[in-house]
Amino acid sequence: MTSQSWIAHTGSALQGALAIPGDKSVSHRSVMFAALADGTSRIEGFLEGEDTRATAAIFSQLGVRIETPSPSTRIVRGVGVDGLKAPSAALDCGNAGTGMRLLAGLLAAQPFDSTLIGDASLSKRPMRRVTGPLAQMGAKIDTCDDGTPPLRIHGGQALTGIDFTSPVASAQVKSCLLLAGLYAQGETTVREPHPTRDYTERMLSAFGVEIDFSPGYAKLRGGQRLRATDIAVPADFSSAAFFIVAASLIPGSDVTLKAVGLNPRRTGLLEALRLMGADIEVLNPAEHGGEPVADLRVRHAVLKGARIPESVVPDMIDEFPALFVAAAAAQGQTIVSGAAELRVKESDRLAAMATGLRSLGVQVDETPDGATIHGGPIGGGIIESHGDHRIAMAFCIAGQLSTGEVVVLDIANVATSFPGFDTLARGAGFGLREG
Ligand code: S3P
Repeated sequence: MTSQSWIAHTGSALQGALAIPGDKSVSHRSVMFAALADGTSRIEGFLEGEDTRATAAIFSQLGVRIETPSPSTRIVRGVGVDGLKAPSAALDCGNAGTGMRLLAGLLAAQPFDSTLIGDASLSKRPMRRVTGPLAQMGAKIDTCDDGTPPLRIHGGQALTGIDFTSPVASAQVKSCLLLAGLYAQGETTVREPHPTRDYTERMLSAFGVEIDFSPGYAKLRGGQRLRATDIAVPADFSSAAFFIVAASLIPGSDVTLKAVGLNPRRTGLLEALRLMGADIEVLNPAEHGGEPVADLRVRHAVLKGARIPESVVPDMIDEFPALFVAAAAAQGQTIVSGAAELRVKESDRLAAMATGLRSLGVQVDETPDGATIHGGPIGGGIIESHGDHRIAMAFCIAGQLSTGEVVVLDIANVATSFPGFDTLARGAGFGLREG
């Protein structure tokens, strides 16, 4: 879809308390694990985004009853680990890498065949990172010659646990193997080069699975069952990130983002922005279903460029589009390195951000695994989002600071992760209209 666009322009200082929609990673997993559990689970705060709805629709195709008594609530009638039914058509993950990679692990262990497909962006994303280790476990999955979807999964294979050291820091790879490991003979261990988000581990444990985990490590035994439980999904830090950056940059801003999930493997942006001089207060810390949450009060501050430590990159892997805009508006240079994974997200985010910022007059020197962004004035221009939700939202922030209007093309995919972004942004003070 290239028809929808936004025009972003100077608005007013951002004010108020904002309710950000539910976390995408947690929402995907909540439906998956509730579907596999014995008994009925209630999910509150479920993200009504296209990605997470696609996952719920796939479980309906697999024979799971899922009710929506009100928006953002799901009641899932679990069928047990052995209760999924063969689907009669291909399973469409939409734009969601998380959906496809986690489902690959689960479906590889089922007695039936299945096919996973996705949209144009997902159809270009690398899947060997999961099909490789799954094959070592005994799975049979065909991909295109270059390792991209569709995934044609041949069911009925007996899987065996492995001890896998992942070359990439990826929660999706880890989670995929743990799901396959639930069905495998023996133990499955995943070791990571850098710890990644541990939602799968925490949530499987909440569903009664015995799982041993610590940062960068997870191990479980096959043959376990899941016990239904209720899940409260926290607000998505990655969606909150756009308002954290915007409020930091727009003079006079003072916003509070309510009950945001602060899993330590997600909050690298706070560290990076604080290095740059941001004013972010963490208030009312609490726990929602085993996950830390808090309100974030963000006030305008003058940001200075910084070198982003490589050790923090995996903890802010989804936040680079927003960080690039903060860097463009900051004083001095910001240096990003060790972030080659950004090239295989919903778009090549290093290229998309570098090209987009350059077209607004910002100097950006792109490298294979990062960029140097030279802070300075931001001009107006036309931005290609490459159908990537986070690129589109990042350039809406750039438009708040630019000397001319920023036209952001192809914004339909914002609905994959942040339905209602435009309404919330306008209500907070953004200058934003349909193009
Ligand atoms: C996710 C893991 C990350 C992240 C994605 C969601 C998850 O991907 O970028 O948005 O829910 O596990 P990788 O595991 O590929 O880094």
